Amino acid sequence: MSTPIDFNDRMLSLGLARVAEQAAIASADWIGRGDEKAADQAAVNAMRDQLNQLDIKGVVVIGEGERDEAPMLYIGEEVGNGDGPGVDIALDPLEGTTLTAKDMPNALTVIAMGPRGTMLHAPDVYMDKLAIGPGFEPGVVTLDMTPKERVEALAKAKGCTTNDITVCILERPRHESVIAEVRATGAGIRLITDGDVAGVMHCAEPHITGIDMYMGSGGAPEGVLAAAALKCMGGQIFGRLLFRNDDERGRAAKAGITDLDKIYSRDEMVTDNVIFAATGVTGGSLLPGIKREVGWLTTETLLMRSKTGSVRRMTYRNPAS
Ligand code: FBP
Repeated sequence: MSTPIDFNDRMLSLGLARVAEQAAIASADWIGRGDEKAADQAAVNAMRDQLNQLDIKGVVVIGEGERDEAPMLYIGEEVGNGDGPGVDIALDPLEGTTLTAKDMPNALTVIAMGPRGTMLHAPDVYMDKLAIGPGFEPGVVTLDMTPKERVEALAKAKGCTTNDITVCILERPRHESVIAEVRATGAGIRLITDGDVAGVMHCAEPHITGIDMYMGSGGAPEGVLAAAALKCMGGQIFGRLLFRNDDERGRAAKAGITDLDKIYSRDEMVTDNVIFAATGVTGGSLLPGIKREVGWLTTETLLMRSKTGSVRRMTYRNPAS
């Protein structure tokens, strides 16, 4: 019997950075062009091409959708050249398709990789999310608390007043009551129009981003990607899947999920070492966007490994084709 090949996160991480970089470069021509679909497709094609060059036996566990909906990078698609370790891959070739189409801040290409069987197979439904940065006792805030209780608990743990707390929330009609309740505590709110992977990641560096906590519902796949990011950066995230109908409950069953009310912690969404890469497409508070000069495109990629807690920022100058 052959021995399984180790997940050599150190070597694989540089390949992962290339995957994120190339997806961003492919979407560059679509920034500000008003065409979400074309921007996404360009990123998907490039990400898939690059992934298939890596020495891995990869399976997409968080991808572009179910096989019958997404021709490429669908959930369950096998990627890589088949020559390396078995790995799980979570990806969003373009997180913030509308942000890209409108040239608004914080669109990213995002990918995470871990040993096979270590990432939650989150179905494409909504997830209620709550995240804070590093340095707090586990469970200082929980999804079972009201928004007001979360703000008060975090302020107490930080040794400040609720007025000193800033919460990031997706601007959606479904969040009106959460927004009103947080505002009533005196806390500030950074509303974002899209891109909650970046929203959650902002909590890991509050001294730079000014954001202490993320709350609200967004895509469940993005929740797993955000958990991978926080596993590298430090911080807590909790998520509970939200189901609107039987079709969505059926998607959970297909993904092997039986407890529909479960609250997942960061380490239940991503159970082992993970590597995470994100490249800025449009500039924002996490990463600068793609820079164009005549003949050149320059990207910046954040590359992180949970095993070591290492964080690299890699600038890549590439001849424009
Ligand atoms: P896309 O890049 O796939 O358009 O997703 C953007 C996003 O804002 C995610 O970051 C977020 O989780 C989700 O959409 C929120 O969904 P909705 O727009 O339905 O509220």
